[in-house]
Amino acid sequence: MSLRRRLLALIALLLAASLLAGGLLTYWHGTRKIELEMSSAIAVGDNALRDAVLPFLPGPISDGQIERVVSTFDGDRHLRATLVTSDSKTKFQSRVRPPADPAPGWLQRLLTGTPHSAELLLPDERGKIVLQADPLNEVTEVWEDAKLKLAIVAGFCTLVLAMISVTLGRALRPLESLSLALQQVGGGDYQAHVSESGPEELAAIYKGFNTMAAKLADAEVQNRSLNAQLNSIQDEERAEIARDLHDEVGPFLFAVDVDAQTIPVLLDRGATADVSARSQAIRQSVAHMQSHLRSVLSRLRPGMLLDLGVSHAAEQLAAFWRARYPAIQFDIDCSDESFGGALDETAFRILQEGTSNAVRHGKPAHISLATRKLDTGMLVVSVTDDGGGLKASERKGFGLSGMRDRLARMGGTLTIQSGTNGQGVCLRAEMPYMQPARRPSAEHRDTANNS
Ligand SMILES: Nc1ncnc2c1ncn2[C@@H]1O[C@H](COP(=O)(O)OP(=O)(O)O)[C@@H](O)[C@H]1O
Ligand SMILES: [Mg+2]
Repeated sequence: MSLRRRLLALIALLLAASLLAGGLLTYWHGTRKIELEMSSAIAVGDNALRDAVLPFLPGPISDGQIERVVSTFDGDRHLRATLVTSDSKTKFQSRVRPPADPAPGWLQRLLTGTPHSAELLLPDERGKIVLQADPLNEVTEVWEDAKLKLAIVAGFCTLVLAMISVTLGRALRPLESLSLALQQVGGGDYQAHVSESGPEELAAIYKGFNTMAAKLADAEVQNRSLNAQLNSIQDEERAEIARDLHDEVGPFLFAVDVDAQTIPVLLDRGATADVSARSQAIRQSVAHMQSHLRSVLSRLRPGMLLDLGVSHAAEQLAAFWRARYPAIQFDIDCSDESFGGALDETAFRILQEGTSNAVRHGKPAHISLATRKLDTGMLVVSVTDDGGGLKASERKGFGLSGMRDRLARMGGTLTIQSGTNGQGVCLRAEMPYMQPARRPSAEHRDTANNS
């Protein structure tokens, strides 16, 4: 059932209950009034009867005189006078004035209490005059009164219900548009908007909804652009790895092939000294390829690198970039302590992305990588360069937001700012560290690697 119907039903129930209470009160008042009216009518009628009969006493009283006395009650609203003979026969009876529109029978039965009557014995065994109270006129009066009150109350109730229904309808109408808008958002359309008019309480909800939808729309736009950037970064990374494998591994593979082909020829000639030189060359080529493969793998999965500590991983990172940009000077000041896999990896990823950003965007001459443990329980990881600094029109990249996400998971924060005069950039991450975890000893590591 809709909220509007529920409220209306509740109010209608309350009005009906108050109507019932009013009805009961009216009934109670009505019976009392009728009782009072009937008893006082009998008292007044009894006096009037005695006054009417008194002038004829004590002498004989004729039938005509008696009938005149009885007929004085003709047309009375409440009293009926009856001449009853000594053998209990009704000889003559006055007529009560009937109401124009009598109350219904059920109401007469409901409101009529004990009957009221009085008697006056006539001399000479002429019988008696009986006075009876007839409540029909009084009941009709109560009924007319109640009908009027009922009509007023019913009109009032209808008016109240109509007003509440209209007011609720107006106030709740925007909720329908809110529900539609929520469905839109549920379907992924964040352009949904609702009008912020209406009662204060609802207007606050509409405003909140609009803010939420706008934020979701922004987040969606950002998400799309981050996804696009992620794809292009992945493409760049793949292209770089392909280039690396082609440029660095390709020539050595070719060299190994040439050397391997030469060996049988040299053996045929019996030039064993040359064979040994070739075999030595093959081993050198393979060693070079192994080391290069390790550096590619360590870029993809730094876990292996980190086994030897963040400081060692930072050295490898510097070596990777130095090989491509020999002019850049690297300065590494990293702690050898391990803070556990997750923290070490986060620290390395920040050094990795910070260095990549410095090289790609800053074109610096000098890059410093550092990790420092503070007494406050925070581990500080920083990458500082002396490149071109941050541009005012810096676009939101995936690298920085990725770093922020990683740090947020570790309860840390990231700040990035240009150096003095807008030259260089200082990237600084802070995250809480636990008790340093003990790195496995070199011996232990070797055993693990061989297994
Ligand atoms: N060391 C830096 N020197 C100059 N600009 C930087 C540096 N680091 C970050 N930026 C700026 O911040 C932007 C966002 O970096 P990032 O989130 O890593 O995205 P991306 O590297 O993919 O552009 C970069 O596009 C660049 O403009
Ligand atoms: Mg980047």
